[in-house]
Amino acid sequence: MMSDLNSIAQHLAQRGKGILAADESTGTIKKRFDTIKLESTESSRRDYREILFTAPNLKDYVCGVILFEETLGQNAADGTPLSEILHNQGILPGIKVDKGLIPLVNSKDEKITQGLDGLPERFEKYYKQGARFAKWRAVYDVDAKRPSMIAIHSAAENLARYAAITQNAGMVPIVEPEVLINGSHDLARCEEVTERVLRAVFRALAIHKVTLEHIVLKPSMVISGDNCPNQASAEEVAEATVRVLKRCVPSAVPTINFLSGGQTPVQATEHLNLMNKQQLPWNLSFSYGRALQEPCLKAWAGNAANTKEAQEILTERCRLNALAAKGEYQGEETTV
Ligand code: 13P
Repeated sequence: MMSDLNSIAQHLAQRGKGILAADESTGTIKKRFDTIKLESTESSRRDYREILFTAPNLKDYVCGVILFEETLGQNAADGTPLSEILHNQGILPGIKVDKGLIPLVNSKDEKITQGLDGLPERFEKYYKQGARFAKWRAVYDVDAKRPSMIAIHSAAENLARYAAITQNAGMVPIVEPEVLINGSHDLARCEEVTERVLRAVFRALAIHKVTLEHIVLKPSMVISGDNCPNQASAEEVAEATVRVLKRCVPSAVPTINFLSGGQTPVQATEHLNLMNKQQLPWNLSFSYGRALQEPCLKAWAGNAANTKEAQEILTERCRLNALAAKGEYQGEETTV
């Protein structure tokens, strides 16, 4: 089993492969299951994750999967731990370690991610359960006044403390600053905010002596707010995103894996592909949740008879994004 930080980071930075985010918290997976009218129970969550992790040929396109704590401790129907099913295919299991959002006092009605207390002890258990990398998500609301200085700096400090603790525990941290898509802000505003956020994150990582060679950056793309009347084109999104990343992310970072953040599956693939049409200083790939899972979840609909089709749909989305991670995606018939 892979154990040193360098091998883990290199494994996650393989060109033409990406990460499947399947780490929805109990509250979030309930919302996803509501869309297919399926009750969220420990066993329905387990069944669903087993379908994802046993999709044929997944390993050709996916090098890591992020799990929620409950999933890391669950077994497949035949008794094999779900994390072992991933390891056996050469896919590394990761663990979401943050404990979600709480109000950030004295901010502009913003939120901060919690979960640092007791983290070193939790890591001992996660490592034994097979996890080799971790994830912590910070979120930033956007409007004319937000994110505030306090939100940017406190989130960066927490991300850096988490990343340092993760590396100290022998795992690779996914550093995830998500500038939210919600709102009427335009592309230029998203670009300005993303640049400020990333500068603060890398400054904090340096202060906390985090080894940049052993992290995965998981940013949001620079994109128009979902309620912005003037939606930027795919080319503009790709251009602005790469511009900001080049300004802020040292080339020592081996791989940048985007979240999908509310983009449609096809948009997320198109944007990634356009960015990979040029030479870049890092591997540039995906760590999508919804953009990989939505079509699969819909096809499954909680019915075992649909498992095979749902798995094929998941593998196909992963294949298309793996092509996009090399700039080789040729488009597809569907536009959803
Ligand atoms: P989405 O791709 O659905 O945004 O999820 C990625 C993720 O891990 C959010 O934390």
